[in-house]
Amino acid sequence: MVSRVIPVDDFDLVIFGATGDLAHRKILPGLFRRFEAGQIPPTSRIIGAARTEQSDDDFRAETARAICEYTSVRKEHPQLAEFLGLLGYVSIDAKGDGGWQELKDRMRPGAVHAFYFSVAPSLFGDIAERLASHGIADNDSRIVVEKPFGRDRASARALNATLAQHFDEHQIYRIDHYLGKETVQNLMAVRFANVLFEPLWNAQFIDHVQITVAETVGVAGRGSYYDKSGAIRDMVQNHMMQLLCLIAMEPPYHFDPDAVRDEKLKVIRALEPVAPADIVRGQYQADGTDSGYLEDAENPESRTESYVAMKVRISNWRWQGTPFYLRTGKKLRARTSEIAITFKEPPHSIFDDSGVPKANELVIRLQPNEGMNMKVMIKEPGPGGMRLVQVPLDMSFADALGPDGADMPDAYERLIMDVIRGNQTLFMRGDEVEAAWAWTDPIIEAWEDGKRRPEPYDAGSSGPDEALRLMHRDNRRWREIRA
Ligand code: BG6
Repeated sequence: MVSRVIPVDDFDLVIFGATGDLAHRKILPGLFRRFEAGQIPPTSRIIGAARTEQSDDDFRAETARAICEYTSVRKEHPQLAEFLGLLGYVSIDAKGDGGWQELKDRMRPGAVHAFYFSVAPSLFGDIAERLASHGIADNDSRIVVEKPFGRDRASARALNATLAQHFDEHQIYRIDHYLGKETVQNLMAVRFANVLFEPLWNAQFIDHVQITVAETVGVAGRGSYYDKSGAIRDMVQNHMMQLLCLIAMEPPYHFDPDAVRDEKLKVIRALEPVAPADIVRGQYQADGTDSGYLEDAENPESRTESYVAMKVRISNWRWQGTPFYLRTGKKLRARTSEIAITFKEPPHSIFDDSGVPKANELVIRLQPNEGMNMKVMIKEPGPGGMRLVQVPLDMSFADALGPDGADMPDAYERLIMDVIRGNQTLFMRGDEVEAAWAWTDPIIEAWEDGKRRPEPYDAGSSGPDEALRLMHRDNRRWREIRA
């Protein structure tokens, strides 16, 4: 199966913070991959902007190094030189006037103009204001902002207000890179392009849902950021919340930015406050060979959680009585992200005790080995009675789709191209972000007031024992964390 590449319009993309880690690891390599795929018109311009003084050629050399370091591309790649020809660089003072006129002179009338704020949120206001006051951005320009979008509802609201002084909501693209993942978009395809699931997709037929995002990496190297955030701000308020919304939302009337985001917002607003007994925080500890969180975060007193598990209830007709269990953590046994939907047991068994049917389970694997697995009951072959056995219907997208299925574009590739196309469906709206914070704020405040330490768990384990008890209490079990 050959995927279709639809070229985007000619554009000028300015990357503020072009010398930073995100630009090196994700944005510039992602742009190269799209160029290589033929999606970026060769007339387009990518302009790096940062405080460092350097020439266009210096920036090109730096970009080539980053692409070779973070992808499998080698410097002899036939299209690399051509791609580097698209690049330019302007040294800019985000808080002063230096560089802005030069940037303005480089922008071409008639091209799509997009500005990627790959900088600390404290600079969003300064950059937005200068883009407007120097007449560089207009009503058709787009701005792209990264997480963290605030650290609570008040700060998110203040950021929204700052950006709104210079840009309309339709111009603001708030990135949650989980929405750019192919398999996350697939959640919508599975639910809304098949007749099979939707009639059963409610509390009458679903016992519970488990959403797991487990990572093997720790926080070493980014401890100063992470220690002020913790798993709830870093993963739950954004990525996990988006997964929950896509699983729980009503069908939008159309795959259209506001239709999709309206439905997600309704889910967030229907979330019940989480009782302290329904939430477990953990912190990984050294296991002899591997360092512990306190060491990685370089803060021996830290009470920040690197793991969180919680039971979430959605207060609406569809989900009344079906809990959603969420868990995410660092330095766990395996890197795996999945959503598991456990259906209810059949209401009546026509078989004797040796053949009691078990509940069906649908697992959507987001990464790695993207695919779906459905557990169904069948008869065990052989004479002598009716013995039932549960077997998996297993589909890996790579096998089903051929080479293209294995070659999933990185989330940033998709999202940046959507910015150029002017499609906001996979970006968070301002009210959505504020509502998500409104739900997490009381959880965080209770922790901060409580002064309780997170539960320790061994690096390389499945998380703290208390998280197991959270499930056992409800006569349920977490799925095993394995790659
Ligand atoms: C980021 C978090 O947003 O997502 C990281 O800040 C986390 O802490 C990362 O590791 C996970 O993303 P992915 O794409 O590797 O699942």
